[in-house]
Amino acid sequence: RSTVQVSVIPGDGIGPELVESALAVMTEASARDGVELVLREEPAGAAVYAETGDALLPGALDRLRAADGVLKGPVGLPEVRKPDGTEGGLLGGLLRIGLDTFANVRPIRLLPGVRTVMRSEPGSIDYVIVRENTEGLYLSRGAGVRNHHAASDQMLITRAGTERVVRFAFEQARQRRGAPRDGVRRVTCVDKSNVLRSFALFRDVFDEVAARYPDIEADHLYADAAAHALVVEPERFDVLVMENFLGDILSDLGAGTVGGLGMCPSGNIGAEAAYFEPIHGSAPMIAGKNLANPVSQILSGALLLRHCGQEATAARIEAAVESAFATGRVSILPSGGPEGGTESVTQAVIGALG
Ligand code: NAD
Ligand code: IPM
Ligand code: MN
Repeated sequence: RSTVQVSVIPGDGIGPELVESALAVMTEASARDGVELVLREEPAGAAVYAETGDALLPGALDRLRAADGVLKGPVGLPEVRKPDGTEGGLLGGLLRIGLDTFANVRPIRLLPGVRTVMRSEPGSIDYVIVRENTEGLYLSRGAGVRNHHAASDQMLITRAGTERVVRFAFEQARQRRGAPRDGVRRVTCVDKSNVLRSFALFRDVFDEVAARYPDIEADHLYADAAAHALVVEPERFDVLVMENFLGDILSDLGAGTVGGLGMCPSGNIGAEAAYFEPIHGSAPMIAGKNLANPVSQILSGALLLRHCGQEATAARIEAAVESAFATGRVSILPSGGPEGGTESVTQAVIGALG
């Protein structure tokens, strides 16, 4: 019987209830494939910051690196602030830079049976945003300057940082199963190279890397036009690669087209560590009320298991989520929460595990 060592960060707000749901599904699904999950909890986030002045406990990065995979709930509480006005409980910089997880993989898929504001057919929205995760505008985190009258942050794009994430995006395009409507494998570079030098470097490096992947179409869009296209013709997209801040914004936009933030999982992938979390935040207003959609966390668990080599279990969980929606046992209200509550989704998905 094989085992998978999972570090678990329950997080803040809706984090703990989502993680509980995902772990219940992952444990059941793994057991059917003869795999045991060995869980170890790593407290981190806003509550930990409020108590200790740091969002991670000492030694946390080493413990997370040692795990086979990390399942993370959303963290952060808007009222837990640092003296500079930014939030103290966030882990984005600490984990993404600390673990050098340079690629943030955000699949956006419209599942059959999911209500959406779009007129798209189920299956026709199926793309992956690869968000650069260690530089761009976010490198300025904690380093911007501010006085009473003005404040400024800085964006940094490096050749090496761009090259590795663009290569990752092309490899994703080669490997992934979903496809754009026309069946042509492509990677779309999203930038603002018409205005900003940093983005001009990003696009030049993209073109250099693209030339090494003649089997995959290279495509470009300015970020403003990309936001429009993601709404009016999402079927054209396969893999998109972009700077950190653009990826933050456009992935939430994508979520809005496929049933909401609660449908969208993500992986933060590096050479030595990886962690998996919903793309959304800790939704403090609905925390502890059995109102949140746990699908984002459950699908993050599937991505984690796939990353750990447990393809059959990952596919089992994804199929169960799809079947729960397709058969109408789970449905999402216009509010973004599931009909019947968080726990009813957990039970429906477990019930649909083949
Ligand atoms: P949010 O993503 O938490 O919430 C935005 C909206 O979506 C809210 O209306 C919320 O109720 C709803 N929502 C989010 N997830 C949902 C789900 N699973 N089911 C149903 N509804 C859901 O964003 P916010 O309100 O801007 O931020 C709240 C906190 O989360 C802040 O502290 C922010 O910094 C933090 N945050 C953390 C992460 C992370 O840990 N990865 C990501 C984004 C935001
Ligand atoms: C995300 C979040 C984070 C980000 C915040 C919480 C630091 O919004 O993972 O998308 O901006 O990267
Ligand atoms: Mn975000």
